[in-house]
Order: sequence, then structure tokens, then C-alpha cells
Amino acid sequence: MTMTRSFPDDFLFGAATAAFQVEGAAFEDGRTASIWDAFSRVPGAVINADNGDVACDHYHRYRDDVALMKSLGLQAYRFSTSWARVRPDGGAVNPKGVDFYSRLVDELLEAGIVPWPTLYHWDMPQALEERGGWTARETTERFVEFAVTMHEALGDRVPTWTTLNEPWCSSFLAYTAGAHAPGRQSVRDGLLASHHLLLAHGRAAQELRARGAQVGITLNLTVADPVDPSDLEDQDAARRIDGQFNRWFLDPLRVGAYPVDIVSDFRAVDEAAVAEFESAVRPGDLEIISQPLDFLGVNYYHGELVSGHAAEEPPVGGEAPTDRPTRSPYPADEDIHWPDRGLPRTTMGWEVQPEGLTRLLQRVAADLPGVPLYVTENGAAYDDELVDGAVDDPERTEFVRAHLSAVLDAIERGVDVRGYYYWSLFDNFEWAWGYEKRFGIVHVDYATQQRTVKRSGREYARIAAERALDI
Ligand code: NOJ
Repeated sequence: MTMTRSFPDDFLFGAATAAFQVEGAAFEDGRTASIWDAFSRVPGAVINADNGDVACDHYHRYRDDVALMKSLGLQAYRFSTSWARVRPDGGAVNPKGVDFYSRLVDELLEAGIVPWPTLYHWDMPQALEERGGWTARETTERFVEFAVTMHEALGDRVPTWTTLNEPWCSSFLAYTAGAHAPGRQSVRDGLLASHHLLLAHGRAAQELRARGAQVGITLNLTVADPVDPSDLEDQDAARRIDGQFNRWFLDPLRVGAYPVDIVSDFRAVDEAAVAEFESAVRPGDLEIISQPLDFLGVNYYHGELVSGHAAEEPPVGGEAPTDRPTRSPYPADEDIHWPDRGLPRTTMGWEVQPEGLTRLLQRVAADLPGVPLYVTENGAAYDDELVDGAVDDPERTEFVRAHLSAVLDAIERGVDVRGYYYWSLFDNFEWAWGYEKRFGIVHVDYATQQRTVKRSGREYARIAAERALDI
């Protein structure tokens, strides 16, 4: 017997991308290098030495791309704005760069699609990195200038703004693990970057809100389950994962404090780094960071089962998820293990665990009462093949259905979830993985830039049109 589960009337069905991953036109119309242009040229940094020079060529094809979104019935498009295009080198405004986003927003509105911009999705101007990047407090003020420029240009048409995407990645993954641009490997730099990113969020939120905007932030959050909930070491492994991914960012935002247990874990491995971090947190910073959020964006890909005991045998498929770098950004991770629990995995090696999304949404709702939530990313990479002009991707189709059902479970349990953005609209530049991993509901043939809606895209369009899930 099939059952139909409906979504609330105002629930938004969208899809997401990010500037560096789709735009291309890397050095056109005044754009200068971002840290990802520089990093992708470092030998060995990106698989196949791929870069973002062309990507999906969205900069030139945005009109057709918006028409494609419309044909899928998408109600909202989450995209990001390229700092190096709008304020090349972090300096003066580049009118041509601003104009691109203005044209994109007009096109979206004309198609009846809500524009959902994120100001920073990891592509800082390289010139700012050379002046310290996110380890320098001054960068926060350059970011505020960029945010205000974007709001001045689009604020008449765009009411809702996201400051940052996944600051864990742009701090610890980028400045401590060195797996993302700018590729630094320092505990100190990761700590300073995390604080300055949060401060940049808070300062930009103040400025945009003063101009009438609704402001939020998107975090990558996780659900860490201890293998044995009664085992102290397993519990501690879960505490550490929860602390570095969730609480390190949620706590300053919601209660204006960094989690003391995680600060002390950092202190145990690098006392000097923590001393510098503590003096970088100036009086008043945490008040700025903890101003109320108009919404929170939650990015969820997988949960994790963690153990604090040494694996007796090499884990079978149970390594750390590959978005956890091999050089841990959090030194206390060294003795954490991820036993396999037999769940299916995507080609990223990530577990498919939809019920983790329900639990995560419930937890975040309890942490941030009254704050509306959006799933701003959720998606899966599979080895798709274009055969006779079609892509049949049953696993992704099922992934989308299962996660939408998990969102409905959260809504039924009282969580205020207002929308879902599939990651990603297109196959695109998957950071250190280059073009090898395909997340899209639309296939991109990079040789021809031909777009092909996958079976999952058609199914997502059907669900969005019916505003219901048959299960
Ligand atoms: C999170 C990031 O925001 C996005 O840029 C990335 O492509 C996806 N995760 C998939 O890894």
C-alpha cells in the first residue's frame, strides 16, 4: 500500500551550487585569482590537476541554466557570490562582476525562482590570503565591505542572505589540515581562521540587518554515535567529533562561547596556538557573533559511528569519511575509529544514513529554539554514466526520496524546516576531487557543456510539483 506524505505549503524545493564550482570564466570581466585558483595549481592538491577555469561555464550559460531550473519546477536556487569577481583582490568594486549577479537574480525572479545567495563559499581573493587570509582580523572588515556591496546591488530584490558556507571547511580543513585552499597546516591558523570567519559572519549580519536583510549562516553538522553508548572511550570519541564539527560553531552562535572541552583538547596539543586564539577573541566579539539568527542552514551528508578504541583489524570500509582529511585538523582525533556498520555508501565513501538527518534537525531545533531551519545541502556522488542521452541513477533517486522523507519525519516531530536544497543542481568541481565526483541531478558533459537531467532530477521535479512523497 502506498502512502502519500505532503510537505507544508510554504516548503521550498531548491537546488544548490557555489560560484567556484560552477561559474568558470575565472579571469574574465575583471575577476582576479581566488585561493582556489592558486591552490588548484599546486601539484597534487587536486585530483587530475583539475581547476575552475571553465567548470560548468555557468557564467556564460546562466540564462539557459535558469530555464532548466524552471523546467524542473525548482522554487529556489542557492548560489554563492565570487568575492574575487565582485571585489577583485579584495579591493575596489568591479561593476561587471556585480552585474553578473544582478542579471542572474533578475533571470531567477522572472522564472519565479527564489534567489538564495551565500556570500562566502570558500573562494577568497588570493591577494587577501597573501595578507594573512582568515588568520588576519583585517579580512573580516574586507568581507563586510564585500557583503555590503552585494546587498547594495541586490538587496532590493533579495531579502534573505547567508553569510558563510561551512566555516569548518574554510578554517580547519583549509588552514590546519591543508586539504583545501589555501592549504596551510597549522593548528594556530585553523583556530584563528575559525574565529575570524565567525566574526565576519557577525559583522556582516550586523551591517546587512541594519539594511533590512534577513541573515543566516550555513553549517556542516554531523551526528556522531558512539559504538557502545555506555563505553567511556566511545563516548569521548563522539564528544570530540560533535565538539569540533557541531559545537565549535553552534555554541558561539547561540550562546556566545566556544566549547571549553574542545578548547582544552586543543590546548593539550598546542598551548601556544590556543593562547594566540584566546587573545584573538577580543572583548565584544562573541556578542557580535551570537546575535540572533533569522534562520540556520544545515548541510547534511552522512552520520558517523565512532569508537575510541584502537581497531583490532584494519576496518572494512570503515575509515574516516573522506571529508575528514587524513591529516586531522583536530589533533585529538588520532585515536578515533569509524567501524563499519554495513550501511550503503556513496562514491565519496560516505554512509547513506537518512534517519541521521531527522535526528540532526531535532537536535539543532532544540539548540536554537525558534530559529527556522533549511537543509541547504544534501546529496550524493555516484558513478553516473550517460548512455544514449540519458542518465539512470537509481541510487541517487532513492537517496533524495529517503532524505526528503527524513525531513518530513522531523517536521512531523515539530521541527520548523522550511526548505531543502539538493546538492547539487549540476555535476561540478568537487574541490580536491576535481571533476571526478558527480553530485548533480543534472549531468554535465565537460567536453561539450551539454546538460542532461538525470532520472533523479526528474523524480525530484515530480516531488516538487506534487509537493508530496509517495512511500
Ligand atoms: C559541501 C560543500 O558546501 C560543497 O561545496 C561540496 O561540493 C559538497 N559538500 C559535497 O562535498
